Parts: sequence; C-alpha cells; structure tokens
Amino acid sequence: GVEAKIAPSMLSSDFANLAAEAERMLQCGADWLHMDIMDGHFVPNLTIGAPVIESLRKHTKAYLDCHLMVTNPLDYVEPLAKAGASGFTFHVEVSKDNWRELIQSIKAKGMRPGVSLKPGTPIEEVYPLVEDKNAVEMVLVMTVEPGFGGQKFMPDMMDKVRALRKKYPSLDIEVDGGLGPSTIEMAASAGANCIVAGSSVFGAAEPAKVISLLKKTVNE
Ligand code: DX5
Ligand code: ZN
Repeated sequence: GVEAKIAPSMLSSDFANLAAEAERMLQCGADWLHMDIMDGHFVPNLTIGAPVIESLRKHTKAYLDCHLMVTNPLDYVEPLAKAGASGFTFHVEVSKDNWRELIQSIKAKGMRPGVSLKPGTPIEEVYPLVEDKNAVEMVLVMTVEPGFGGQKFMPDMMDKVRALRKKYPSLDIEVDGGLGPSTIEMAASAGANCIVAGSSVFGAAEPAKVISLLKKTVNE
C-alpha cells in the first residue's frame, strides 16, 4: 500500500519557539511538518504566512506540508515557493475557476500540489483534479471544520476517504482534524496514509509514542 506520513500540525506548537518545536517533532519520528496557513477570511482565524515558513526553512530541511486555508491561494504560490515550502495544498471550494492554473504554477515552482475539501463539500468535486493530466498528488480530507486545532474528529468523513482509496489505489490521502490514538484506526482502515495530528501529539507526555502508534496503525 501507500506509505504512512505522520505530519504533526505546528498549529499546536509554541509558535514563539517554532524551530525548536519542529526539531523536537522530527526527533520524535515525524515524517512531515504540517503548516496551517490561514488568512482570517476563508476561515475565522489567522496564523502564519510565507515569512514564517521562510524563517523556519533556515532551521530545518524537513518536508513542509503547507495547508492553505485562504481565499486566494494563487497569490501564495510564488511567496511560499521562495520561502521554501514543500507541499502546497489548496482548497477546492475557492479554486473552481483556476485549479488548472494553480496546479501548473505550484509544479512550475517546484512544490507538490494537493487539494483539500471541507466537511460539507462532496468528494466528487476533487475527482477532476486527481484525473487531470496535470493532476494534484494528494487529497486532504478535512475531518473537522478548518480553522482551529483541538476539535472533534468527524467519522462521517471516512466515506470520502473510502471512495477515494477505491478509485485511486496509490494516491496520497491525508486526513486532518481530531486524529490521534482513538481515531487513527477509523482513518487508517478507510485508506488514509498521511496523518495530520496537532493536539494529540503536542498534548502528549511522550509525542514519540503517539507518532509511532499512528505510523504503525497506517502501515499494518
Ligand atoms: C485545522 C487545521 C489542522 C489542525 C489540526 O484547521 O487544518 O491542521 O491544526 O489540529 P488537531 O489535530 O488538534 O485537530
Ligand atoms: Zn491543516
């Protein structure tokens, strides 16, 4: 099957010590670092942007899995590429008219394109983006309403993950929101392989144990 990627969400970290927090997660076995970029418009919260990615990049070689919860993702492609982002996952809800251009420019700038969808958005809306000859390389299924860490996992979203996995056996499928030891089995058995986890990892006494449990559950 597809390889597990465990991506701690740095939204739950101490932003004032971001480089140390990133290094700590990598030491604990993190594969990727999930970076939640919000604009206070697409979601009712404001977090970080390209300047913070640029600062963090100076301290780590890690894969920076950027999740763009913004209304105009195209505006972020060039700044984030320059800043050193690795993955660029935009939302399908705000890219109906320009997803082809978006995917093309993300790839042209050397980043890996992904598409995400909110809980209320039907999974069929991402199919064209996965099937295009210039396709996204990951689908991020939101398992909470985007905007904040620490919310409750929505098990109903596993229907979307199952439908995707059935259609696309080798696609990277990421889940984000409320993932941890008590929900990983649902996500893994539905077919998710990239696991974002914020509060469950940062809130743990031993994050390495949580990360290894998440990874083991996806890989078995
Ligand atoms: C929510 C973000 C998530 C969030 C996950 O809008 O996209 O990445 O940080 O946090 P937890 O794992 O605490 O639900
Ligand atoms: Zn996220």
